[in-house]
Amino acid sequence: MTETKERIAIYPGSFDPLTNGHLDVLKRAQDIFDRVILAVLHNPAKKSLFSPEERVNMIKDSINGDPRIEVDTFDGLLVEYARIKKAVAVIRGMRAISDFESEFQMALMNRKLNKDVQSVFLMTGLRWIFTSSSIIKEAAQFGGDISDMVPEPVKIKLMEKFPKLDC
Ligand code: PNS
Repeated sequence: MTETKERIAIYPGSFDPLTNGHLDVLKRAQDIFDRVILAVLHNPAKKSLFSPEERVNMIKDSINGDPRIEVDTFDGLLVEYARIKKAVAVIRGMRAISDFESEFQMALMNRKLNKDVQSVFLMTGLRWIFTSSSIIKEAAQFGGDISDMVPEPVKIKLMEKFPKLDC
C-alpha cells in the first residue's frame, strides 16, 4: 500500500503582532496543505513590540487549538528551517503590488538556496488589503480603534501595551 505524504507548508513572518489579514492567508493555505507551520522569526537585531514568546502565545490563543496548525519560532535561514521541518512550500501573503518586488527578490533567493522548497503567494481578502502589523501598531499607539483588524487575544495584548487604546 502506498502511503500518502503529508504536505507541509511554512507560513513565516514577524507576526508583530498577528492580524486578521494573516489569519485570512492562513485559512487559504489550509485549503491547499495538510499542515501549516506558522513560524515566527526570532531576530534579536530587529526591534519588535512583542517578544517571540508573546507573539507565539497570541497566535496560539487565536487559532483555537486547530490541530492542523503548528506554531513555532525560527532563526537563521528560512529554507534551512523548511528543510528540517520537511516542508514543501513557503507561504507568503500578498496585498498590493507594492509587496511584489521584495517578495520576488526573497523568493528567488530562497529558491537559489534550496530549490526543493516552492514559494506560494496567496492574495489576502480585499477587506485586509490595507492592513499590516506596522500600521495597526501605529494606530493603536495613538488610541485608534483597531478592534476589527486583529483577533481578540491580540487586541487584549495591544491594550496592555498602549493604555490609550480603548476599543
Ligand atoms: O513578516 P515579515 O517581516 O515580512 O517576514 C519576513 C521573513 C521572516 C519571512 C524573512 O525576513 C525571513 O525569511 N527571514 C529569515 C532569513 C532568511 O532566510 N531570509 C531570506 C533569504 S536571505
